[in-house]
Amino acid sequence: MKIGILYICTGKYDIFWKDFYLSTERHFLQDPSFTLEYYVFTDSSKLYDEENNNHIHRIKQKNLGWPDNTLKRFHIFLRIKEQLERETDYIFFFNANLLFTCSIGKEMLPSPNSNGLLGTVHPGFYNKPNSEFTYERRTASTAYIPEGKGLYYYAGGLSGGRTEAYLQLCTTICSWVDKDAANHIIPIWHDESLINKYFFDNPPAITLSPAYLYPEGWSLPFEPIILIRDKNKPEYGGHEFLRRKSSLWKRIKLICKKIVPPFIQT
Ligand code: GAL
Ligand code: GAL
Repeated sequence: MKIGILYICTGKYDIFWKDFYLSTERHFLQDPSFTLEYYVFTDSSKLYDEENNNHIHRIKQKNLGWPDNTLKRFHIFLRIKEQLERETDYIFFFNANLLFTCSIGKEMLPSPNSNGLLGTVHPGFYNKPNSEFTYERRTASTAYIPEGKGLYYYAGGLSGGRTEAYLQLCTTICSWVDKDAANHIIPIWHDESLINKYFFDNPPAITLSPAYLYPEGWSLPFEPIILIRDKNKPEYGGHEFLRRKSSLWKRIKLICKKIVPPFIQT
């Protein structure tokens, strides 16, 4: 069984790749009947371990800036639609800053006689009534969900399913993003608003608890299985820094390389 992992790390987000990858290799579907294929969309010229593991597929992806890096996520995946159809049975998208802390087996694989989809409850909303869900409420948006409706508020950071079912989700959501863009609308929480609408129409066969999206430093009544690393921690540079279109630091280093002899460089 081939499992595709969709991972986007443009700009500074490549800082998260090594730890994510090592934790995946240790904890995610480690039964020998599964093969993990990593599809990493990045503008980095090198990824940790790519020279040793030919299951890491680095796909050149321009940094689209904020919010397109997140809003256009499904467009990005569809760039390799045929390859995913050929090479995988299941695909899962993981936000760049996730980390596996416990072993995960078949519980993330929707059964063949289901709609094949998997979503994850957002850690901020598992205990809230749907009147507090931050669904898109503007009727002009394709992501619109009426007040009083909806069982769960899903998170944008982890979704997946059987390849065919997930690619159908990507295709539909892309058409919604394009339609909203033509009407000059950006859904309130970008891709997250749209996936909530898709799951509202097509409730996923598997709904994971926030144990699978457990924010670092929070105290929730779940044993963490997948941790969301805190982007605001100084070692990652903070949210604003990570979202910057191109890292100023990288540019300064590049200029230095050209003008300063190598022995002075750190
Ligand atoms: C972030 C998202 C990451 C990645 C990044 C762009 O918002 O959490 O998974 O998509 O944008 O590289
Ligand atoms: C926040 C989260 C955002 C978005 C929002 C939805 O906690 O940081 O990315 O998911 O909730 O209301």
